[in-house]
Amino acid sequence: MKLSLRGVEKSYTGGRGETCALVPLDLDVGEGEFVSLVGPSGCGKSTLLHIVAGLERATAGVVALDGERVLGPGAEIGLVFQQQTLFPWLSVRENVGFPLTLSRARAAAAGAERERQAARVESLLRLVGLWEFRDSRPAELSGGMQQRAALARALVVQPEVLLMDEPFGALDAQTREEMQELLLHLTQHHRITTLFVTHDVDEALLLSDRVLVFSERPGSVVASIDVPFPRGDRSPELKLDEEFLRPKREILALLRGRSRSEAQRDRLLSGLTNTQPEGGS
Ligand SMILES: Nc1ncnc2c1ncn2[C@@H]1O[C@H](COP(=O)(O)OP(=O)(O)O)[C@@H](O)[C@H]1O
Ligand SMILES: [Mg+2]
Repeated sequence: MKLSLRGVEKSYTGGRGETCALVPLDLDVGEGEFVSLVGPSGCGKSTLLHIVAGLERATAGVVALDGERVLGPGAEIGLVFQQQTLFPWLSVRENVGFPLTLSRARAAAAGAERERQAARVESLLRLVGLWEFRDSRPAELSGGMQQRAALARALVVQPEVLLMDEPFGALDAQTREEMQELLLHLTQHHRITTLFVTHDVDEALLLSDRVLVFSERPGSVVASIDVPFPRGDRSPELKLDEEFLRPKREILALLRGRSRSEAQRDRLLSGLTNTQPEGGS
C-alpha cells in the first residue's frame, strides 16, 4: 500500500495555549518502502504516527492509503510503540491473537477460518521465538521478549502498513540487533510499507530505504537521505562500512542543526580526504 500525506499539520490546544506540533507536511511512502524518521525529541514524530494510524486527527490536511482517506484506525495498519502495551492478564498467545478477536472476520469466523487464525498465531509465535512461552504472562517475559510479542501482535492481521514508534529503545544492544534483523527480513519479505521512528541513526540507516530528518518543533522535514544499499543484503556489520558512515555523518550534522549544504560539504570533504570526519570547522 502507498501512503501519502498532503498538508498535514497539527496544533494542540491546552493549558498553555496553542502548541504547534507539525507544520504542513507532504510525505509519500511507496508500496513496500521503509522510511525512518529521526529528529529531536518533542518535534512531532509520535504525533505524525498517531495521525497516520487514525488515532489522532490532523488539524488540517489529508492522509491517504492507496488514495483512500484514512479517517480512523483500520486493520491494514499494524502498530508497535515503545512502551509495553500487552495486556497483563492475557497469555502471550492470547495477546498475539487479540486483534483477530476484534475484526469482523473473526465475528463471522467458523471452524476452518478459526483454525487458520490459530495457525497464523502459532507461526508468528515461532517466527519471533516465543512459541515455548505461549502460555506465559507478559510479566514473566524480558523486555525484548515482550517487544517481540508486540511485533507478532502487530503482524497477526497481515497489515500492509506498519508504524513503529521507537520500538527497540528500551532493549539491550544484542536483543536490539536481533530485532532489527527480524524486522528487515519481515518487512522485505512481505513488502510492508513502514514508517519507523527512532533516535538511533545507525538503526535508521540499517533498516531503511530512506531516512527523513526532522527539525525542532514544530516538526518539518529538513532532509531526506537515501540509503545507498539494497535492503536485501544488509547485516549489522554494515555499520562499519565507509559508505554507511557518510550518510550517518550527514544525518548527525543535520541533527546538530547545521544547514544541509554545510552537511553536504562535509560529506564531500570526507569523501576527498577520507580522514577527519567532522568538528574543527
Ligand atoms: N495530547 C497532546 N496534547 C498537547 N500537546 C501534545 C500532545 N501530544 C504531544 N503534544 C506536544 O506536541 C509536541 C510533539 O510531541 P511528540 O509528537 O510526542 O514529539 P516526538 O515524538 O517527536 O518526541 C510536543 O511539544 C508535545 O508536548
Ligand atoms: Mg515520540
